[in-house]
Amino acid sequence: MSSASLDHPNLNQAIDPPRRPDTKFLLGDFSTYFADEANYFLDTGKLGPMIRFRLMHLDNLLVTDAEFAKEILQTRNKNYLKEPRLMRIIENGSSQTLFSSDGDEWIWRRRLMQPAFHKKQIAAFCDAILDESEKMVGKWESGQTHDMGEAMKLVTMMIIGRTMFNVDMDGEAADLHWAYRTLSETLIGRITSPIQTPTWMPTKTNRDFNKSREIITTTLSRIMNERKHSTEPHNDLLEMLLTMVDVEGGFTQEQMIFEMSSIVFAGHETTASTLGWILYMLTQHPDVEEKLLQELDSVVGDRRPTMDDLDKLPYLNMVINETLRLYPPARATNREAVEADEIGGYKIRAGETVFINIEGIQRDERYWENPNQFDPERWSPERSAGRNKWAFLPFLDGPRKCIGEPLSRTEMQLILITMLQRYRFKLAAGAKVEKLVGFVLEPAGLDMELVVRNK
Ligand code: HEM
Repeated sequence: MSSASLDHPNLNQAIDPPRRPDTKFLLGDFSTYFADEANYFLDTGKLGPMIRFRLMHLDNLLVTDAEFAKEILQTRNKNYLKEPRLMRIIENGSSQTLFSSDGDEWIWRRRLMQPAFHKKQIAAFCDAILDESEKMVGKWESGQTHDMGEAMKLVTMMIIGRTMFNVDMDGEAADLHWAYRTLSETLIGRITSPIQTPTWMPTKTNRDFNKSREIITTTLSRIMNERKHSTEPHNDLLEMLLTMVDVEGGFTQEQMIFEMSSIVFAGHETTASTLGWILYMLTQHPDVEEKLLQELDSVVGDRRPTMDDLDKLPYLNMVINETLRLYPPARATNREAVEADEIGGYKIRAGETVFINIEGIQRDERYWENPNQFDPERWSPERSAGRNKWAFLPFLDGPRKCIGEPLSRTEMQLILITMLQRYRFKLAAGAKVEKLVGFVLEPAGLDMELVVRNK
């Protein structure tokens, strides 16, 4: 693709971004990274707005600055491509998707899929989201303990099936979830491990990886093929994608499965992780829980919520935003610079990988007062006035902003209302919640006891 013609009169005066001072000659930051993976980006971001770090032999830049992020993601976005090295590993070089493509390949995909995420369309998903949430809550009883992290992943998987492909994945969601979990663990291993086992070796990891790919391909192929034989109109993402199968400039069937798969991948664990963190935050902040329950009781009460209710629940939205600020499911994203560039007086080399430190920016005291404190009220209109919008990037911003944000926000609101109308959530005795870093930043160990609400 052609890059933007960059206007960088200061490139010659630009300085090399400083390197982490403890980088080792041979191993780079390998040992520091693995000693505290969950905090490595946060700690590195505190060293400055642009820091060079090295994982094994690969140099990268970490950007922890809202204005620099805006330059990369919006002003000069044509110079910063989705990182081909990472995408090659994730997609095995076999296909492109909305998530991984760039330039014209990306534009036609985004235009094709955008209507499936339109506001009107989201309103039509309301019943499906509520049906799945009620089905989950209907199986619970007071006093039971559940791993709420797992429960949230299953319900969001079911909702992706209903909203994107109009199918009920009951009976398949658990296997599919296992498959995506195995796939991401293996891929993370391949990206970060210094020793690569050849993919053809019959190790347990390779066998599980192949099995997970088979489950995903079989399930999604079945969904695609059943739809191909259906004569009813559906007006959903699956129908939009099918119009491009086997047409010139469109998808092969294999590419179509890849596209469906990346939607399931991008869409379920992210939303589930945020829901998990919200439940955890409520257990740690009883005052916030109390205020939230009061708002839900006074606006919705015990009836089924509607889309109209969602505009009348400002505190619920503050809780969601504050959780996304402290625990963004995508804690960082990366791009590869096409041409050399200068941002904020720092030089970025052509071909260099730049990580945007989303979590670091969202916890930076230049933008946030008491940045590590969970304080939903900071999202009130008065306290939000004048805030740099590039300091809050859970869904990113600019042209590559998450296409699923409206769906995800509606899902989170409706699932939370359905759960909190009936239950409070208490951490089970001995539960130890930890920040788990994979493709998604998620809470692990979320065993919670359900306590029925007496109203
Ligand atoms: C809390 C929930 C979610 C979060 C935090 C989130 C976050 C993000 C982020 C940060 C990106 C940009 C990645 C990059 O370009 O580097 C992204 C892109 C994307 N997300 Fe989400 N996402 C969420 C939910 C969803 C849902 C529900 C769907 C679909 C059903 C979805 C589908 C996508 C797709 C397809 C892209 C690629 C868009 C493009 O490049 O044009 N996401 N998401």
